[in-house]
Amino acid sequence: MSVPPPIIAPSILAADFARLAEEARAVEGAADWLHVDVMDNHFVPNLTIGLPVVQSLIKTSTLPFDVHLMIEQPERWSIGYAEAGAYNVTFHVEAADDPVALAKNLRAAGSRAGLAIDRDTPVEPYLELLPHFDTLLIMTIKAGFGGQAFMPELLDKVRAARRQVDAGHLELRIEVDGGIARDTIEAAAEAGADAFVAGTAVYASADPAAAVRALRQAAGR
Ligand code: DX5
Ligand code: ZN
Repeated sequence: MSVPPPIIAPSILAADFARLAEEARAVEGAADWLHVDVMDNHFVPNLTIGLPVVQSLIKTSTLPFDVHLMIEQPERWSIGYAEAGAYNVTFHVEAADDPVALAKNLRAAGSRAGLAIDRDTPVEPYLELLPHFDTLLIMTIKAGFGGQAFMPELLDKVRAARRQVDAGHLELRIEVDGGIARDTIEAAAEAGADAFVAGTAVYASADPAAAVRALRQAAGR
């Protein structure tokens, strides 16, 4: 298994939304990416922020933005985030009509392209699409809310993806999202994940940057 050094991506879903720029700055120098959860109250019941907030926030931070779209009709909205300067834009396979076409459009618009797989969706049917993507986000909870308990049984999907990535020598990152904390990150890393989203574990901590460093250490590489 050839896994690169881990990416740690704090999720601002667990941050103070009245102080987003400050909260982003709090993990600069410690985090690799800033994970931004966009929810539309349709694809998931929850509602968070949209493009105008991301456009403003992105100007305040030096961190690469990892935008996780939990929205319907990603074809309609994704490109705006790429054009706003997001480093990576991830949409859900459950919501997309033509994931490969959208990935191509995202890359043409200047971002990386990510494919997300929710809790109840198997990964196998989509493994052959991976050469078109830069990240594969495997939910380790049901998408929609922070602070849920990590579901270790979902790591079988990470293992299947890791086998595919290694066999095909793909450069794709395997990202896990949901319940990632000091006591769960090692299992996710062992399963083959190499990018880790953490909301509560970072922003519920008194020192978010220290929490990021602790996660990196716990990832074990
Ligand atoms: C939930 C979001 C996650 C969320 C994770 O649907 O995609 O990114 O912020 O939060 P924690 O780390 O608290 O499980
Ligand atoms: Zn997320």
